[in-house]
Amino acid sequence: MTSRSDAVDIEVFETDLLYHEAADLFADAANQAVSDRSVFTVALAGGKTPEPLYSLLACKYRESVPWAKSHIFFSDERCVPPDHRDSNFGMANRVLLYKVPVPSSSIHRMKGEIDSVQAAAEYERCICQVCKVVEQRVPVFDLMILGMGGDGHTASIFPCTDTINETEHLVAAVHDPEHRHNRITFTPPVILAARRIMVLVTGEEKAETLARVLNGPYEPHELPIQILRNAQGQVTWFVDPDAAEDLEPASRIA
Ligand code: 6PG
Repeated sequence: MTSRSDAVDIEVFETDLLYHEAADLFADAANQAVSDRSVFTVALAGGKTPEPLYSLLACKYRESVPWAKSHIFFSDERCVPPDHRDSNFGMANRVLLYKVPVPSSSIHRMKGEIDSVQAAAEYERCICQVCKVVEQRVPVFDLMILGMGGDGHTASIFPCTDTINETEHLVAAVHDPEHRHNRITFTPPVILAARRIMVLVTGEEKAETLARVLNGPYEPHELPIQILRNAQGQVTWFVDPDAAEDLEPASRIA
Protein backbone atom coordinates (compact mmCIF):
# COMPACT_ATOMS: atom_id res chain seq x y z
CA MET A 1 0.00 0.00 0.00
CA THR A 2 1.36 3.41 -0.87
CA SER A 3 -0.08 6.67 0.31
CA ARG A 4 1.35 9.86 -1.14
CA SER A 5 1.07 13.53 -0.67
CA ASP A 6 3.51 15.73 -2.54
CA ALA A 7 6.43 15.34 -0.12
CA VAL A 8 5.47 12.32 1.97
CA ASP A 9 5.27 8.66 1.00
CA ILE A 10 3.98 5.92 3.25
CA GLU A 11 5.14 2.57 1.89
CA VAL A 12 3.75 -0.53 3.56
CA PHE A 13 5.68 -3.72 2.81
CA GLU A 14 6.16 -7.10 4.37
CA THR A 15 9.35 -6.90 6.41
CA ASP A 16 11.83 -8.50 3.97
CA LEU A 17 10.64 -6.41 1.03
CA LEU A 18 10.55 -3.30 3.24
CA TYR A 19 14.31 -3.49 3.85
CA HIS A 20 15.05 -4.11 0.16
CA GLU A 21 12.97 -1.06 -0.76
CA ALA A 22 14.80 0.97 1.87
CA ALA A 23 18.16 -0.23 0.55
CA ASP A 24 17.09 0.75 -2.98
CA LEU A 25 16.26 4.24 -1.73
CA PHE A 26 19.62 4.46 0.08
CA ALA A 27 21.53 3.46 -3.07
CA ASP A 28 19.44 5.81 -5.23
CA ALA A 29 20.05 8.75 -2.89
CA ALA A 30 23.77 7.97 -2.73
CA ASN A 31 24.27 7.71 -6.50
CA GLN A 32 22.16 10.80 -7.15
CA ALA A 33 24.18 12.82 -4.62
CA VAL A 34 27.52 11.71 -6.07
CA SER A 35 26.28 12.47 -9.58
CA ASP A 36 25.09 15.94 -8.55
CA ARG A 37 27.74 16.94 -5.97
CA SER A 38 30.48 14.26 -6.06
CA VAL A 39 29.79 13.33 -2.42
CA PHE A 40 27.05 11.57 -0.42
CA THR A 41 26.27 12.58 3.16
CA VAL A 42 24.03 10.29 5.21
CA ALA A 43 23.04 10.26 8.88
CA LEU A 44 22.30 6.79 10.27
CA ALA A 45 19.66 6.00 12.85
CA GLY A 46 20.29 3.93 15.93
CA GLY A 47 18.11 1.41 17.71
CA LYS A 48 17.15 -2.04 16.43
CA THR A 49 14.92 -1.33 13.43
CA PRO A 50 17.60 -0.19 10.94
CA GLU A 51 19.94 -3.15 11.62
CA PRO A 52 18.54 -5.38 8.81
CA LEU A 53 18.91 -2.46 6.39
CA TYR A 54 22.55 -2.00 7.35
CA SER A 55 23.13 -5.75 6.90
CA LEU A 56 21.65 -5.60 3.39
CA LEU A 57 23.80 -2.59 2.50
CA ALA A 58 26.91 -4.46 3.67
CA CYS A 59 26.29 -7.50 1.50
CA LYS A 60 23.70 -7.52 -1.31
CA TYR A 61 24.00 -3.75 -1.94
CA ARG A 62 27.74 -3.47 -1.27
CA GLU A 63 28.52 -2.77 -4.91
CA SER A 64 25.49 -0.49 -5.43
CA VAL A 65 26.67 2.35 -3.19
CA PRO A 66 29.62 4.72 -3.90
CA TRP A 67 31.11 4.11 -0.45
CA ALA A 68 34.45 5.81 -1.29
CA LYS A 69 32.57 9.09 -1.84
CA SER A 70 30.26 8.74 1.14
CA HIS A 71 30.41 10.50 4.51
CA ILE A 72 28.66 8.65 7.33
CA PHE A 73 27.16 10.53 10.26
CA PHE A 74 24.74 9.64 13.06
CA SER A 75 21.47 11.38 13.95
CA ASP A 76 21.94 10.56 17.62
CA GLU A 77 24.05 8.56 20.06
CA ARG A 78 23.89 7.23 23.55
CA CYS A 79 26.50 8.56 25.96
CA VAL A 80 28.50 5.35 26.09
CA PRO A 81 31.87 4.27 24.62
CA PRO A 82 31.83 3.20 20.96
CA ASP A 83 32.29 -0.48 21.87
CA HIS A 84 29.39 -0.45 24.36
CA ARG A 85 26.48 -2.77 23.49
CA ASP A 86 24.11 0.25 23.44
CA SER A 87 26.27 2.38 21.11
CA ASN A 88 24.56 3.32 17.83
CA PHE A 89 27.98 3.68 16.24
CA GLY A 90 28.96 0.28 17.64
CA MET A 91 25.95 -1.39 16.02
CA ALA A 92 26.43 0.32 12.64
CA ASN A 93 30.16 -0.40 12.67
CA ARG A 94 29.66 -4.08 13.51
CA VAL A 95 26.88 -4.62 10.95
CA LEU A 96 27.92 -2.28 8.12
CA LEU A 97 30.81 0.12 8.39
CA TYR A 98 33.75 -2.21 8.82
CA LYS A 99 32.40 -4.33 5.91
CA VAL A 100 32.28 -1.59 3.26
CA PRO A 101 35.07 0.58 1.79
CA VAL A 102 34.15 3.89 3.45
CA PRO A 103 37.39 5.72 4.29
CA SER A 104 37.74 5.77 8.08
CA SER A 105 38.20 9.54 7.86
CA SER A 106 34.69 9.71 6.36
CA ILE A 107 33.02 8.03 9.33
CA HIS A 108 31.99 10.72 11.81
CA ARG A 109 30.78 9.34 15.10
CA MET A 110 29.36 11.27 18.02
CA LYS A 111 31.76 10.82 20.94
CA GLY A 112 29.52 9.18 23.48
CA GLU A 113 32.46 8.56 25.77
CA ILE A 114 33.14 12.23 26.59
CA ASP A 115 31.07 14.94 28.28
CA SER A 116 27.77 15.17 26.33
CA VAL A 117 27.76 18.99 26.07
CA GLN A 118 31.33 18.96 24.75
CA ALA A 119 30.51 16.09 22.36
CA ALA A 120 27.46 17.94 21.00
CA ALA A 121 29.48 21.12 20.37
CA GLU A 122 32.26 19.12 18.72
CA TYR A 123 29.81 17.31 16.45
CA GLU A 124 28.11 20.54 15.46
CA ARG A 125 31.48 21.85 14.28
CA CYS A 126 32.14 18.57 12.47
CA ILE A 127 28.89 18.53 10.48
CA CYS A 128 29.29 22.18 9.50
CA GLN A 129 32.88 21.62 8.39
CA VAL A 130 32.32 18.37 6.46
CA CYS A 131 29.06 19.58 4.87
CA LYS A 132 30.85 22.85 4.02
CA VAL A 133 28.20 24.99 5.65
CA VAL A 134 28.80 28.69 5.11
CA GLU A 135 25.93 31.12 4.72
CA GLN A 136 22.93 28.89 5.17
CA ARG A 137 24.25 27.71 8.55
CA VAL A 138 22.34 24.42 8.52
CA PRO A 139 24.01 21.42 6.83
CA VAL A 140 21.80 19.71 4.24
CA PHE A 141 22.28 15.96 4.44
CA ASP A 142 21.50 13.96 1.31
CA LEU A 143 19.78 11.29 3.39
CA MET A 144 18.60 11.17 7.02
CA ILE A 145 17.60 7.73 8.35
CA LEU A 146 15.28 7.84 11.36
CA GLY A 147 13.36 5.46 13.57
CA MET A 148 10.34 6.09 15.78
CA GLY A 149 10.09 5.18 19.42
CA GLY A 150 6.85 3.86 20.90
CA ASP A 151 6.39 7.27 22.54
CA GLY A 152 6.71 9.09 19.22
CA HIS A 153 10.30 10.23 19.67
CA THR A 154 12.82 10.28 16.86
CA ALA A 155 16.61 10.53 17.09
CA SER A 156 16.86 11.50 20.77
CA ILE A 157 14.18 14.16 20.66
CA PHE A 158 11.88 12.89 23.40
CA PRO A 159 8.34 14.01 24.27
CA CYS A 160 7.87 17.00 26.55
CA THR A 161 11.51 18.08 26.40
CA ASP A 162 13.05 21.38 25.31
CA THR A 163 14.93 19.72 22.44
CA ILE A 164 11.82 19.89 20.26
CA ASN A 165 12.04 23.71 20.34
CA GLU A 166 15.81 23.93 19.85
CA THR A 167 16.64 26.14 16.89
CA GLU A 168 19.92 27.74 18.03
CA HIS A 169 21.98 24.55 18.07
CA LEU A 170 22.19 21.80 15.44
CA VAL A 171 23.32 19.14 17.92
CA ALA A 172 22.17 18.93 21.54
CA ALA A 173 23.06 17.05 24.70
CA VAL A 174 20.00 15.32 26.17
CA HIS A 175 19.61 14.30 29.79
CA ASP A 176 16.50 12.18 29.98
CA PRO A 177 16.02 10.45 33.32
CA GLU A 178 13.51 8.04 31.73
CA HIS A 179 16.22 6.60 29.49
CA ARG A 180 19.19 4.62 30.61
CA HIS A 181 21.78 6.87 29.05
CA ASN A 182 22.24 10.56 28.43
CA ARG A 183 22.16 11.24 24.70
CA ILE A 184 23.55 13.44 21.92
CA THR A 185 21.11 14.28 19.14
CA PHE A 186 20.47 16.23 15.98
CA THR A 187 17.92 18.95 16.64
CA PRO A 188 14.90 19.69 14.40
CA PRO A 189 16.58 22.25 12.10
CA VAL A 190 19.18 19.83 10.76
CA ILE A 191 16.73 16.92 10.54
CA LEU A 192 14.20 18.99 8.61
CA ALA A 193 16.80 20.36 6.18
CA ALA A 194 17.71 16.93 4.75
CA ARG A 195 17.13 16.38 1.04
CA ARG A 196 15.57 12.99 1.78
CA ILE A 197 14.36 11.44 5.01
CA MET A 198 13.70 7.72 5.43
CA VAL A 199 11.72 6.59 8.49
CA LEU A 200 11.68 2.88 9.39
CA VAL A 201 8.82 1.68 11.61
CA THR A 202 8.00 -1.99 12.27
CA GLY A 203 6.02 -3.98 14.83
CA GLU A 204 2.48 -3.93 16.17
CA GLU A 205 3.66 -2.24 19.38
CA LYS A 206 4.12 0.96 17.35
CA ALA A 207 0.80 0.81 15.46
CA GLU A 208 -1.20 3.04 17.81
CA THR A 209 1.52 5.70 18.02
CA LEU A 210 2.11 5.63 14.26
CA ALA A 211 -1.59 6.22 13.60
CA ARG A 212 -1.54 9.20 16.00
CA VAL A 213 1.60 10.55 14.33
CA LEU A 214 0.37 10.25 10.75
CA ASN A 215 -3.41 10.61 11.10
CA GLY A 216 -3.86 12.57 14.32
CA PRO A 217 -3.68 16.25 15.24
CA TYR A 218 -0.32 18.04 15.08
CA GLU A 219 1.06 17.83 18.64
CA PRO A 220 4.87 17.59 18.25
CA HIS A 221 5.54 18.29 21.94
CA GLU A 222 3.84 14.96 22.68
CA LEU A 223 4.85 13.26 19.41
CA PRO A 224 8.20 14.76 18.36
CA ILE A 225 8.48 12.80 15.10
CA GLN A 226 5.54 14.85 13.83
CA ILE A 227 8.09 17.60 13.13
CA LEU A 228 8.62 15.70 9.86
CA ARG A 229 5.42 17.37 8.62
CA ASN A 230 7.69 20.42 8.20
CA ALA A 231 10.49 18.59 6.38
CA GLN A 232 11.97 20.49 3.45
CA GLY A 233 12.73 17.35 1.45
CA GLN A 234 11.04 14.08 0.54
CA VAL A 235 9.95 11.94 3.49
CA THR A 236 9.45 8.21 2.94
CA TRP A 237 7.96 6.10 5.71
CA PHE A 238 8.76 2.40 5.37
CA VAL A 239 6.24 0.57 7.54
CA ASP A 240 5.45 -3.12 7.92
CA PRO A 241 1.79 -4.34 8.03
CA ASP A 242 1.86 -4.78 11.82
CA ALA A 243 2.88 -1.18 12.43
CA ALA A 244 0.44 0.03 9.74
CA GLU A 245 -2.62 -1.79 11.11
CA ASP A 246 -4.21 1.31 12.68
CA LEU A 247 -3.48 3.72 9.82
CA GLU A 248 -6.35 5.29 7.88
CA PRO A 249 -6.46 3.79 4.35
CA ALA A 250 -5.32 7.00 2.67
CA SER A 251 -3.24 8.45 5.46
CA ARG A 252 -3.75 12.13 5.94
CA ILE A 253 -0.32 13.66 6.33
CA ALA A 254 -0.53 17.41 6.21
C1 6PG B 1 18.12 5.45 19.38
C2 6PG B 1 17.43 5.92 18.13
C3 6PG B 1 15.98 6.09 18.40
C4 6PG B 1 15.31 4.92 17.72
C5 6PG B 1 13.93 4.69 18.23
C6 6PG B 1 13.37 3.36 17.71
O1 6PG B 1 19.22 5.89 19.66
O2 6PG B 1 17.50 4.57 20.02
O3 6PG B 1 17.96 6.91 17.51
O4 6PG B 1 15.39 7.27 17.95
O5 6PG B 1 15.28 5.14 16.32
O6 6PG B 1 13.97 4.66 19.65
O7 6PG B 1 14.18 2.34 18.26
P1 6PG B 1 14.02 0.81 17.76
O8 6PG B 1 14.38 0.81 16.30
O9 6PG B 1 14.98 0.03 18.59
O10 6PG B 1 12.57 0.45 17.98
